[in-house]
Amino acid sequence: MADPFQNVDAAGPEFIKIFADSMDVRQSDPAMEQIVATYLGKLSLSDDSTLIEVGAGAGAVARRIAAHADPAQVVAYDPSAGFIEEAKARARDHANLRFEVADGAALPRDDASTDVVIMHTVLTHVVDPRALITEAVRVLRSGGTLIACDADFSKATFAHFPNDPLDACAREFVRSFVTDPYLVGKLRGLLSGAGLGLEFFDVQSRVVTTPQQMRPWVEMTANAMQERGEIGPGLAQALIAEHERRAEAGVLYGYQAFATAIARKPG
Ligand SMILES: C[S@@+](CC[C@H](N)C(=O)[O-])C[C@H]1O[C@@H](n2cnc3c(N)ncnc32)[C@H](O)[C@@H]1O
Repeated sequence: MADPFQNVDAAGPEFIKIFADSMDVRQSDPAMEQIVATYLGKLSLSDDSTLIEVGAGAGAVARRIAAHADPAQVVAYDPSAGFIEEAKARARDHANLRFEVADGAALPRDDASTDVVIMHTVLTHVVDPRALITEAVRVLRSGGTLIACDADFSKATFAHFPNDPLDACAREFVRSFVTDPYLVGKLRGLLSGAGLGLEFFDVQSRVVTTPQQMRPWVEMTANAMQERGEIGPGLAQALIAEHERRAEAGVLYGYQAFATAIARKPG
């Protein structure tokens, strides 16, 4: 089952709309705002700094980067023309932000042309993360900064107890929508292997406790397992009903860990 984020345009317009909205909702979560604000706050920027986001999707994080860096210029790249179209429509208020279609392994930028490269939940969705990191090193100037922030999907869980059936929905999300759930464990080695000097590495928690956040994932994953014939409609409905029971009891608990690595190109 290929991760649809490897080729979003092939996944179709409905996927693009649903996930453009879903990434906006995820980014507006206070824990995610804090994670992005923390790494942006560590940057030393001037008015003429150049920043890029690689794998910007529909621009949820790019808009935060542009607001933080203003008046410095931000260019946000994504290989999906559909996401870039959504991103442009959602970012009209940001004069210092533009979007371009480009793969992170082949950026349309000169060598040493960039002060900051940001990759936010991208490396877990690519088959060859080394290719994106190598390309980031090429476009960074000496002393420039790479920020890689990603979920440690190997630890994502909805479980309240061993073998909790609802946790099947968290595991199913990782199986269907993530390329390498263990990427975060390899991240520091990937960065140092590309010649970067690691300056910061931290892991922060994101906890999901509301049905507004969790219901779409439970419904989507339960329905997907049913559509593939892996479970019957009774079990799919039972998983959704168990989510509703926990929501009414006020005990929903979904856990994600987000790692941030900040690394510098030697000067
Ligand atoms: C989960 S989304 C994250 C989007 C955005 N960074 C955010 O957090 O809102 C993953 C993104 O990685 C992009 N992506 C997949 N393969 C890529 C590649 N080879 N180079 C750059 N981006 C890629 C996808 O198109 C998608 O927009």
